[in-house]
Amino acid sequence: MTDRKLKVGLIGLGNMGSGHARDLTAMENVELVGVCDLVKEKADKFAASCGSTAYYDYRDLFANSGLEAVVIAVPHFDHTPITIDALGKGIHVMCEKPVSVHVNDAKKMDAAYAEAKKKYPNLIYGLMFMERTYPNFIKIKDILDGGELGQLVRATWINTAWFRSQAYFNSGGWRATWAGEGGGILTNQCPHNLDMYQWLFGLPEKVSGFAHIGKYHDIEVEDEVTGYFEHANGMVGHFIVSTAETPGTNRLEIVGEHGRLIYENGKITMNRNRMSMFKFLRETTEPFGNVESWHTEIPSQPNIPGPHRQVMERWVDTIIGHGTLIAEGHEGLNSVMLANAIMLSSHKTQAVTLPLDGDEYEAILKERAAKSRFVKAVADVGVDMSKSFSK
Ligand SMILES: NC(=O)c1ccc[n+]([C@@H]2O[C@H](COP(=O)([O-])OP(=O)(O)OC[C@H]3O[C@@H](n4cnc5c(N)ncnc54)[C@H](O)[C@@H]3O)[C@@H](O)[C@H]2O)c1
Repeated sequence: MTDRKLKVGLIGLGNMGSGHARDLTAMENVELVGVCDLVKEKADKFAASCGSTAYYDYRDLFANSGLEAVVIAVPHFDHTPITIDALGKGIHVMCEKPVSVHVNDAKKMDAAYAEAKKKYPNLIYGLMFMERTYPNFIKIKDILDGGELGQLVRATWINTAWFRSQAYFNSGGWRATWAGEGGGILTNQCPHNLDMYQWLFGLPEKVSGFAHIGKYHDIEVEDEVTGYFEHANGMVGHFIVSTAETPGTNRLEIVGEHGRLIYENGKITMNRNRMSMFKFLRETTEPFGNVESWHTEIPSQPNIPGPHRQVMERWVDTIIGHGTLIAEGHEGLNSVMLANAIMLSSHKTQAVTLPLDGDEYEAILKERAAKSRFVKAVADVGVDMSKSFSK
């Protein structure tokens, strides 16, 4: 529906922002009124190719472009001040993942939104969690919410398909530094997986984390991580991720009393138990018996091309007044909470109970950033972000 064109600004014209520029320019109900980057050449180049106006400071974009809505695709720490400034001015926001580096910042953004809504009740604040549009994940959520697996026992997600070379980490000055990025694989590559975990299973009560810092790469942040999650309903979760395994694995295994679901290589398969495992476990007289189970392949579609565009379209539709967001701003807190909890637990070598102490984690982060003496070699390897999304 093209009732009118929404005036949108875009901040950050790097790997991800350039994709957003393409999408926004192609959308009929969007007028890209300004593109902004600290690097003048980038802003000028995108302004010319998108038929837009270049800005080099987001405050100038806010003041002079006439925008109604803004897409924020800058490095993580800047998500917070730019989002808060925009919301306070009544500008709708689409913020890239992760919503923030640490929970205190995410909470500040939520508070700013709540405050701004008093003055601008129709203000919309969305997040770029495009993996929620993937048909396979929608199907898995549908199966879990429908109770087909019964009470969940275990979820194990091994996602080591995030292999990154040293050249990748050298490609942007802010990457893989405590001061610039605020974290490693949990902050950069895994926010989507962490969001998906909490979308499917909710937040655990307790988190134990084991994070190796710069184990395989010359970086000062984590590149190999295991999280162990304990949920209030008894379910346990394992979250095993790495940027230093090739070939990598991306396998999500979900076990419930009525069977086991596996999502791997784009396929969902399920073993359905003929009776509840709990009931069988209690009642059978066979010491080595197993529940009879049947193997099923769950039909699902491949990922639809252009998931970022889908999230963007839904955001624009919602602002214009006839849609709902794929992910709302406040939903970003949970994945940041999980990431921070794994890192805090690893740092303290003890389990962390959620909600975690945001001040404690922020203090550790500040200490790490202050002590950072990392000198990065910067080389432009021309990163193609279309290869970056999860497999
Ligand atoms: N949703 C996804 O699939 C996805 C994929 C990749 C990256 N991202 C996210 O997008 C964001 C940007 O990542 P990237 O890989 O594009 O980084 P990048 O380094 O390639 O680009 C960032 C750009 O922002 C500019 N910039 C930095 N601070 C700025 C500021 N204050 N004002 C204006 N411009 C500023 C830089 O000059 C650079 O051009 C991050 O939050 C990242 O996690 C999301």
